[in-house]
This record gives sequence, C-alpha cells and structure tokens, in this order.
Amino acid sequence: MRNEPLDESCAVKFLRREITAVRQNFEHGAADLATEAFFLARLQHPNIVRLRAVAAGSVESNIVSGRETGFFLVVDRLVETLGHRIRRWKQQTEEMPHNLFHRMSKEYKDKQKALLKERLQVAVQIAEVCSYLHGLNVAYRDLKPDNIGFDRDGTLKLFDFGLCKEEKQTIAFDGKYRMTGHTGSRRYMAPEVAKNQPYDKSVDVYSFGVLLWELCSLEKPFSAYCSKKHMTQVILGGERPKMDHAHTAFWPVALQTMLCKCWSSHPEDRPSFDAIKATLEEVMAELSMVHNERARARSIGSKEDDSKKSPTSPGKKIHPLSNFGGLRARSLGLKRSQS
Ligand SMILES: Nc1ncnc2c1ncn2[C@@H]1O[C@H](COP(=O)(O)OP(=O)(O)OP(=O)(O)O)[C@@H](O)[C@H]1O
Ligand SMILES: [Mg+2]
Repeated sequence: MRNEPLDESCAVKFLRREITAVRQNFEHGAADLATEAFFLARLQHPNIVRLRAVAAGSVESNIVSGRETGFFLVVDRLVETLGHRIRRWKQQTEEMPHNLFHRMSKEYKDKQKALLKERLQVAVQIAEVCSYLHGLNVAYRDLKPDNIGFDRDGTLKLFDFGLCKEEKQTIAFDGKYRMTGHTGSRRYMAPEVAKNQPYDKSVDVYSFGVLLWELCSLEKPFSAYCSKKHMTQVILGGERPKMDHAHTAFWPVALQTMLCKCWSSHPEDRPSFDAIKATLEEVMAELSMVHNERARARSIGSKEDDSKKSPTSPGKKIHPLSNFGGLRARSLGLKRSQS
C-alpha cells in the first residue's frame, strides 16, 4: 500500500497499481484496506491514528475506475515511524564515547539508564493502546516498529489496522479462536500463529515482548535469520532474543522477567497489557530513583566540597557516612510510599 501526503497534516492510503494487477494480491490488499477502514471508524484513542475520511466508492471501484485511487483512506499524517526512531537512537548511542574508562564512569551508566527510561516511556504508550484494544476484544496482530508512528507533536500513534480482528466469543475453541495463521511479520510473530494453531489476543503480547527487547537493545531481533532458520530455531526451537549481560547490563530485573513472560511459548503465561503497563511504570520509577539518588549524592558531595572550601563555615564538617545514611533513609521512604 502507499501513503502520500495530501496536505501537511493528512496521508492517503490506497492500493498500489502492482497489487491491483494480480487478483490474489488485490483480494488480500482490498480486504486489509476494508478491515482497516472498519476498525479505524470505530476505534477512538489518543494513540490510534485518526481516520479523517473514506472514499465514497468501494474497493471494487479500483477495478471499475481502472485507477489505483478508486478506494482510499485519509488519515492523520505522521512524521516518523518507531522503526526510524530506533535507528536514530542507535546512531546517537554509537556516537557516544565507547572506551572502557568512559563505560565504567557513573556518568555513562546514568546516561544509559536515562535513555532506557525514555524508551520505556514509548513502551508504556504502546501497552496503553494495546490494553484499550484488548479491552474491546480486538487483536491487533501486526505489532512492529514500522506500524507505530509519531505525529508532529510527538504523540505516539498506532496505525495499519489491516490485520485487526475481533475475537468472537461464539466460536471459542478451547478458550482460543481459529483465526488465520501466518498473519503479521515473521520476526514478531507468535509461534502459535506461525504454526497455524488456534490462538487468542495474547499473540500481541508476544510481539510486544520482541518489540520491547528491540526498544531496549536498539538491535533488530533475529537480524540474520532467514525464514527457514527462524522457523526451526525460534518458532519450533523456542529461541528468543539474547538476554546476556552485554544486552541487559542496565535493565532492571523486573524488566528482564517480564520480557521472558511476554514471549513465553505458553500463551497463558503471558501477562495482560494492564500488568505490563504496571510493571513498566515500576521499572521506570526504579530507574528514576537510581538516577535521582546519584544526582543527589553528587549535589551533596559538591556542597560538601564547597563547605570545606568556604571561609564562612570553617567549623561545618559533614561526615560522608552520615550523608550516605540520610540519603538511604530517604530513598527507602520513597520506595515504601510508592508500593
Ligand atoms: N499516516 C501516515 N503518515 C505518514 N506515513 C505513513 C502513514 N501511514 C503509513 N505511513 C508510511 O507508509 C508505510 C506503509 O504503511 P502501512 O503500514 O499502513 O501499509 P502496509 O502496506 O500495510 O505496510 P506493511 O505491509 O509494510 O505493514 C509505513 O511504514 C509508513 O512509513
Ligand atoms: Mg504496515
């Protein structure tokens, strides 16, 4: 499909001519576009792209009119996808000094934690919008960085609702549903979807886990895997993105535990998006606390240095241990009030 600017604030989504030329591709593309129009017209959330207009014709208008723009959607224009943003973040990280001495410094560690927190803020918004969809019994089924964007104000927007599906309670099969297999992008696809087994909306949680790992590591999951290798090692073999020290050095334990639950091969072990949101918020609070403690320690340290230097307070000496004790008590107090 193609999206082109209509004016500064709109984008038009329509079937490309190449797709309309091949009957099977046309049928799939047309079905996806109609599905997208159906859901976008009904869903309302600050983190879902807004549908502004739908062409008066139907998808068949493409054939009748002989024009690729016979049926189209007009949506809010986005300025960047999450995929682009991740690449930009990676570039920025690569530009940071990487010598061992710098990597051992508090500044480096604090910076890494602050950057991780910034990325987790994006993850919280994705979890929020997924929680909204799951609350309506809607499975999104194609969660990936290239289907998430940002508008001019920097607000996160989920788009591309072509694979969205409402779970119908009436066709429940063992608590799961017979939905079309192989939907979505292989890299983020839950094993049960790839294996063409019945599944439920927890497939979005699997995709979210892989996406969250990508957000935290700024690396493409399973980057060098062809589809055969992905099927053998990930889908059938249970392999998951790397969780070694090189990747997880700055990731709080609660984050690591949650990632592993999200991409569990057992759908029933995957957490809900509400639980994910709560854990992410705790993890972010933990990261801020470590960061603030260090900043406060630095500021107390520098005040202490000043007081040592200051001729106006010659007798005012603060023992470093008493500083540390006070700081620790305050931070524990903060922890208690948050739990
Ligand atoms: N509202 C928008 N504003 C600006 N660009 C957009 C918008 N929607 C989509 N795009 C761009 O067009 C690309 C394809 O859009 P979309 O994902 O909706 O179509 P698609 O054909 O279903 O793509 P895919 O099969 O790759 O998921 C996006 O990755 C993005 O770069
Ligand atoms: Mg897409």
